[in-house]
Amino acid sequence: MQTKPIEMTLRPGLEGVPVTQSSICDIDGAKGNLSYRGYPIGDLTAQSSFLEITYLLIWGELPSPQQLRDFEGEVQMHRRMSFRVRDMMKCFPATGHPMDALQASAASLGLFYSRRAIDKPEYIYDAVVRLIAKIPTMVAAFQLIRKGQDPIQPRDDLAYSANFLYMLTEREPDPLAARILDRCLILHAEHSLNASTFSARVTASTLTDPYAVIASAVGTLAGPLHGGANEDVLAMLEEIGVPEKAGQYLDEAITNKRKIMGFGHREYRVKDPRASILQSLAEELFARFGKDEMYDVAQAVELEASKRLGAKGIYPNVDFYSGLVYRKLGIPRDLFTPVFAISRVAGWLAHWREQLGANRIFRPSQIYTGMKTRKWIPPEERNSSSVD
Ligand code: ACO
Repeated sequence: MQTKPIEMTLRPGLEGVPVTQSSICDIDGAKGNLSYRGYPIGDLTAQSSFLEITYLLIWGELPSPQQLRDFEGEVQMHRRMSFRVRDMMKCFPATGHPMDALQASAASLGLFYSRRAIDKPEYIYDAVVRLIAKIPTMVAAFQLIRKGQDPIQPRDDLAYSANFLYMLTEREPDPLAARILDRCLILHAEHSLNASTFSARVTASTLTDPYAVIASAVGTLAGPLHGGANEDVLAMLEEIGVPEKAGQYLDEAITNKRKIMGFGHREYRVKDPRASILQSLAEELFARFGKDEMYDVAQAVELEASKRLGAKGIYPNVDFYSGLVYRKLGIPRDLFTPVFAISRVAGWLAHWREQLGANRIFRPSQIYTGMKTRKWIPPEERNSSSVD
């Protein structure tokens, strides 16, 4: 095949390098706009449900009432997980991170549903339903298992987010709390070609099964520079302790070249629109259930950071206020990223489907910086100090 000569310039982190075409999500990082399939994120979080948005992301159109009822019904039917997966999860160390438990559990689904008929729309639909249905069950199950309890069964009379909170906390949630979680899931569902979505597309491009695609994306999301930052934000707010100390903390961090968690984004040069919506969701929750004392600290950090980092285009990202919302919903800190994953499965699956529609396996090149041909050295002649 004739290909154009490729410029061999290294772009660390692939910044600004297009690697695919996509019609799923659009980000205007200068203006702070985000849309899914052309619909502004603010309208979707105000009007829609998470399952409706999952359908939109994956199939490109908002579902008709009947399509939505069918999809919700299928997801509800597949919420339960096999007793074998449950027993496997019981063997996980209780001290392990829930993201690692989720990655292993998601990957295990490939053992049960291994038929790789990825060219068949029915297979794609079934895989979407299973993953969207079972991932929350797995997150909630690990939470109970690590406390020494048996996971509780999903409740068919509860909608998606309410059922997740029920399985996690063993209490039927307040409707406002369930609706706010549902809106959080919409906000986190998709964000174009971030690290975990790229990971999902690279894995998808090998034509492996969708469970491997999701497991690889979960592993990528777990890192502290990506989804894992929301755990660190609360730790940072607690370390600062009171609003008056925000400026001093930031000065020390900036002098010591430490990143402020929950700030900065490769795409946005203004406040992440999701951070603004999450902040208003936090305020809605606080008005109903009482304020989190760390909210004042967070606002002080935002104000002081804008004075120090605003000129560089560094503002709160999606992770800055999400921890405060999740904590008010009763979600333990190390489950913040798994909850993010529950939602992002929708976006990853949308990219999986899109990748399959115009697939070419990812195989970038590198600029080799190692040594040229060397002569093999017998063991007795090797110098042990030459390796780091
Ligand atoms: N605090 C302080 N300075 C920052 C921050 C921050 N949070 N983010 C970026 N900067 C500064 C860098 O020090 C660098 O400054 P310099 O040019 O003077 O050296 C400049 O801004 C560019 O930073 P990069 O790290 O090169 O920007 P990049 O686009 O690669 O990174 C990232 C984006 C990883 C999100 C970064 O902003 C960061 O580490 N933030 C903190 C972690 C975080 O909140 N991650 C969640 C992101 S949202 C998500 O993934 C769901």
